[in-house]
Amino acid sequence: MDMETGVKAKVHVTSKSNGDPGSELFRAKDPFTLVIFGASGDLSRRKLIPALYHLNATGYLPDRYAVVGFSRTEMTDDAYRDTMLGALQEHVDAGSSAVQADNALVQSLYYHPGNNDNLESFTALKAKLDAIEAERNLPGNRLFYLSVAPEFFITVIRNLCEADLIRDKNADTWSRIIIEKPFGHDLDSAQTLNTDVTALLDESQIYRIDHYLGKETVQNILSFRFGNSIFEPLFDQKYVDNVQISVAETLGMEGRRGAYYDTAGAMRDMVQNHMLQLLCLIAMEPPSALDSHSIRDEKVKVLRALIPLSRKEVAASTVRGQYGVGEKEGEVVKGYRQEEGVDPHSTTETYVALRTKIDNWRWAGVPFLLRSGKRLPKRVSEIAVEFKQPPLHLYRQLTNDDDLAPPKPKSNVLVMRIQPDEGISLAFACKRPGMRIQLEEVNMDFFYHTFQQRSPEAYERLLLDALRGDASLFTRSDEVEYAWRFISSIHEGWANLPPPKFPNYYPFTDGPDEANRLLEGSQAEWRSLSGSRYSKSLNGMSPP
Ligand code: BG6
Repeated sequence: MDMETGVKAKVHVTSKSNGDPGSELFRAKDPFTLVIFGASGDLSRRKLIPALYHLNATGYLPDRYAVVGFSRTEMTDDAYRDTMLGALQEHVDAGSSAVQADNALVQSLYYHPGNNDNLESFTALKAKLDAIEAERNLPGNRLFYLSVAPEFFITVIRNLCEADLIRDKNADTWSRIIIEKPFGHDLDSAQTLNTDVTALLDESQIYRIDHYLGKETVQNILSFRFGNSIFEPLFDQKYVDNVQISVAETLGMEGRRGAYYDTAGAMRDMVQNHMLQLLCLIAMEPPSALDSHSIRDEKVKVLRALIPLSRKEVAASTVRGQYGVGEKEGEVVKGYRQEEGVDPHSTTETYVALRTKIDNWRWAGVPFLLRSGKRLPKRVSEIAVEFKQPPLHLYRQLTNDDDLAPPKPKSNVLVMRIQPDEGISLAFACKRPGMRIQLEEVNMDFFYHTFQQRSPEAYERLLLDALRGDASLFTRSDEVEYAWRFISSIHEGWANLPPPKFPNYYPFTDGPDEANRLLEGSQAEWRSLSGSRYSKSLNGMSPP
């Protein structure tokens, strides 16, 4: 237990399950061919191939499959296998022994050099797939993973269709496409992309990925809410004071991301997708079933109740930030404008905080406070549901002593820690031992590691679901558009405001102080990003 975290009631996991019973139900049963576009990229090496390795090692893949890498670099199948073996040895914890060249996944890898915008590359790809499928006795179920720059999404899909690589949704083998983010740059471009993609494919064949949805802790939001009876009845405007969703990162541009990021900013990069998905999951009504239609229908209702902000509201309810030059452990840390690929006069935000409301019966009037940024003090993603202060006059009557005042500012907070220290904690008030009646905040903490079981990586889960044809954890066209409707209203508001005075926060601090402006007139306080104030409540103090 972290000694800094104050009083804690330990939570023991009482699950009797050993391993993953029922996993047979979740195996990908259909033999398949997976083609990864952007195969020499980082995502493929660090996430996709390792995810496939784990799926194979844990028995979730069928006996027969093939994985074909596609990108511009000239390479043979053998060279690709060698490169991916190196990536696996670097990124996979295979226990005591390193991943071996005769591993079934490595032996199922192939490579096809080609250009995304060259139809001939695709007709040659078709010939290659036909040959591999004949050799490996694969029926032709095909999953295409588009890990390419967004300007190539529609080009690649068109070429796949023209080269006859995609079969109709009613064919006896399936064809599916996973599209990486960002899906559009604003509402208009997302609508155009949806129109173009759905002109070529059926919605049931399209898997728009948001890797946050594949995280175990994100999936648990619904299980926690709808699998327990004690919290859900309290999740509404009668009991909840505010909901804070924070996604903070210590990373900056790490050399290679600046050029992309400068066209996106924190709002497009994190809020439009990951954070609005978290907001949907914490705010949605129970779905009538755990299938992709019912879950996504409920998420869309939340997004529809997220009213686009007027220009005036944008000024009042959003704060932008950009990190300047700083230092860490004696080393100078570049400011955003000094990062590679970034315009030296850039007004792109690397931090955003916003206050919004969900205009429905459950949540009317409850502020949802969202915050995300780069170069913040700690990597932390969490959702904190802060409940209203109970009437504590009983305790006030006992004394005039300020010490006995109710815990400030909130005592009942439910925190879902998405990462790191994955888990859930509940802060509540308790009588401090002693003759006096004195309330103290304490925490009840659950940590995922008490399960003593490996949590699958987000991409593992999402690849498996796409292979099984389950789109519940992927975003639907209307969902993406409603998310953009809200975000584009903010971008339009910003375009009409005077340019922000950047940089306005030092690296590794909590972001611009101006964010406090969003809380004016309320009892709420931003949670500290460098360490929860709730867990510090007993620091340095010994009980009387
Ligand atoms: C990506 C963003 O979608 O998510 C990155 O483009 C960000 O900027 C990343 O760093 C965060 O993902 P995670 O899983 O590390 O929280």
